[in-house]
Amino acid sequence: MIEGKSVRLRALSAEDLDAHVRWRNDPEVVHWATGGNPQFGPVTREALASFHEVRLRDDPRSECTFTVEDLADGRAIGMADYRDLNPFTGRATVGITIGERDRWGGGYGSEALRLLLGHLFGACRLRRVDLETWSGNERAMRAFRAAGFVEEGRRRAAVRVGDTWHDEVLFGLLKEEWTA
Ligand SMILES: CC(C)(COP(=O)(O)OP(=O)(O)OC[C@H]1O[C@@H](n2cnc3c(N)ncnc32)[C@H](O)[C@@H]1OP(=O)(O)O)[C@@H](O)C(=O)NCCC(=O)NCCS
Repeated sequence: MIEGKSVRLRALSAEDLDAHVRWRNDPEVVHWATGGNPQFGPVTREALASFHEVRLRDDPRSECTFTVEDLADGRAIGMADYRDLNPFTGRATVGITIGERDRWGGGYGSEALRLLLGHLFGACRLRRVDLETWSGNERAMRAFRAAGFVEEGRRRAAVRVGDTWHDEVLFGLLKEEWTA
């Protein structure tokens, strides 16, 4: 359990499946999280259940999905994860999605991201963290820059959003930048 002022990160549980099914079938969440990639959602409960089952057995030495819980009412409002953790290079990739729309823009995602970074740079002693989003997701890019992430590059026209193409924006954060 990693606790902040408004949210805590706790281990994923079997009971979180309902919330994940709801988020993955919310077109607005799918839009902002992936640019509306149909491979992300809508998705059936059955398909997600087997994926969830695997996530519950993640080995935290390489990957882990946390549930973001609102401290005010204990509600699961999103997820934060790391993957591809490489202890030799001290590197991992993170992701953050607040699935409850009424919690967007209130700093909950930003705090969850900071808690995850504190865990990775602190307890896990990583050297750098990778993160990416698509160029139309202004709120996410602002949140990432505010956490200290630096834009390191773009994959041009890599994300299709309806009939338009956006860049995939690649961010990186080094331990010394985080500490500063
Ligand atoms: C992206 C996300 C993690 C950001 O977390 P958050 O706690 O909601 O963000 P914050 O409230 O801290 O706001 C971050 C910044 O965006 C700005 N912002 C808020 N709402 C915005 C909006 N609708 N459009 C543009 N900017 C917005 C805030 O003012 C803040 O900028 P500032 O620090 O310069 O003032 C969260 O909103 C979310 O999960 N959204 C849905 C899924 C998603 O986009 N996932 C990211 C995929 S990579």
